[in-house]
Amino acid sequence: MTNVVTVLGSPRQDASSARLADAVAESLAGGAGASSRHVINSLKHVRGCQACQACKGKSETCVVKDDLAPVLAAAASADFLIIAAPNYIGEITAQLKLFIDRTYSWFKPDFHSAAEPGRLSGKGKKALLIFTQGNPDPGAYARAYEAYKAYFQGQGFKTAYKAVPVPVGPGADKAVADAAAELKALAASL
Ligand SMILES: Cc1cc2nc3c(=O)[nH]c(=O)nc-3n(C[C@H](O)[C@H](O)[C@H](O)COP(=O)(O)O)c2cc1C
Repeated sequence: MTNVVTVLGSPRQDASSARLADAVAESLAGGAGASSRHVINSLKHVRGCQACQACKGKSETCVVKDDLAPVLAAAASADFLIIAAPNYIGEITAQLKLFIDRTYSWFKPDFHSAAEPGRLSGKGKKALLIFTQGNPDPGAYARAYEAYKAYFQGQGFKTAYKAVPVPVGPGADKAVADAAAELKALAASL
């Protein structure tokens, strides 16, 4: 049974990023799998990484006990992690960045020198990163998106990403439907 976990970095729970993530989650989990979705924006008490380094010493997990802690645990338990967020000012949303910074706790203490720096390495985990944007050029933010792909690969996930331009207005539904089909195929190919 595949455990599919979605982390949504959009404040809009029913908009393009959410719909694309849900379509992929549904296709992966099907009838047999487990699937959960976590919306960072709806969490009340969330702190950024405190750089306390406890996760590199006394603890194997993040010691910050806030509403993001169970989301981190759920994401770490995923066989297939779906991350979806819009582009805000050329980057992923601040909500998603908070989550990603806290995944620093997934690194081993010797991550600077370890051949496999991630605690989750070697477990066959996969990640699909879905980035929606208003800009019609899917390559416009490739530098940022490639960096996040490389990051999750470093964490031990076999990772792919797709930038999805979503026009404002009537073309939006078709853009989402087309991208959903492509993303399902991409997820299945991972
Ligand atoms: C605050 C804000 C900043 C944005 N900045 C950009 C941007 O720099 N580049 C871009 O292509 N789209 C930008 N957008 C558009 C969103 O990325 C786009 O509408 C996206 O599809 C929204 O995702 P959602 O439907 O999941 O909310 C911005 C939207 C907002 C609200």
